[in-house]
Amino acid sequence: MTTVVFGARGNVGRHVAAGLVERGVPVRPTSREPNPADFPPHARIVAADLERPDTLPAALEGADRVFLYAKPDGIEDFVAAAEAAGVRRVVLLSSGAVLQADAEKNPIARMHRTVESAIETSGLEWTFLRAGMFATNTLWWWQRSIREEGVVRLPYPEARTAPVHERDLAALAVTALTEPGHERHAYSVYGPAGLSLRQQVEHIGAAIGREVAVEAISVDRARAELSETMPAIGVEAVLAGWQAGTTAPPEVSAVVEEVTGRPGRTFAQWAMDHAHDFR
Ligand SMILES: NC(=O)c1ccc[n+]([C@@H]2O[C@H](COP(=O)([O-])OP(=O)(O)OC[C@H]3O[C@@H](n4cnc5c(N)ncnc54)[C@H](OP(=O)(O)O)[C@@H]3O)[C@@H](O)[C@H]2O)c1
Repeated sequence: MTTVVFGARGNVGRHVAAGLVERGVPVRPTSREPNPADFPPHARIVAADLERPDTLPAALEGADRVFLYAKPDGIEDFVAAAEAAGVRRVVLLSSGAVLQADAEKNPIARMHRTVESAIETSGLEWTFLRAGMFATNTLWWWQRSIREEGVVRLPYPEARTAPVHERDLAALAVTALTEPGHERHAYSVYGPAGLSLRQQVEHIGAAIGREVAVEAISVDRARAELSETMPAIGVEAVLAGWQAGTTAPPEVSAVVEEVTGRPGRTFAQWAMDHAHDFR
């Protein structure tokens, strides 16, 4: 019983691969660039690209489970290759955007829903992890200014969000890949508690042992700054998510504890785990 992990050097995928290894499950990590330096020693990495169907049969050969990132280009080829290889179960890292009222108009939602639909209508067993904002996003947004200037500039410092720890997403994936009872389940995965962006910055400051200033800026300036590290589609999603967090409490979820038996990790914990990234 081999489990193929796509994106095995990704923020979530790397913890999925490690969690499966801990459970004694044979794992086949894949990457488009299988450079051994990016993986634990002795890992046998297989080259695979979800957008290049010719790479899939070799990656999936003899596997019965798959951890998947959402790549709509080539998803039909992935389903065909997985079924041909005898894969039975797929756990997909999806997005909570698919449930939003404007999902039809939202390109992020459409991309994830396209992948979900192709898997739902296949003969594969599936579990979808529909994630909210990742805590790791703060690396894109704030890492450089915290390191270089000791400041975070925000258009909505009091907006509340409930960031999710990548290890919790991975723990859910490992459970769904290795235990019964998660087939045909779509889990909405948010962090365990809402907190303001200012509080998130304070937790990072506490983790690195240095005060980090918060400076209020205009939305236009924030858009320009975010655009330096993110594609436009991501920038607009972030700004919309932050603005929503100024008027309504963010969605939180207890699904991590319900499914894995251990509580979802807090943002304070995430900041401690990533203190080195901000120093
Ligand atoms: N950020 C958020 O707030 C958020 C919220 C909801 C859902 N999500 C979902 O989570 C994903 C990001 O997860 P993450 O933080 O773990 O990402 P990440 O660290 O950027 O890693 C993405 C992984 O995907 C793999 N990948 C990319 N293109 C591929 C392709 N064509 N074929 C095979 N593998 C490919 C990459 O592997 P190689 O480079 O090694 O090939 C990489 O390891 C998003 O793309 C989205 O679908 C994110």
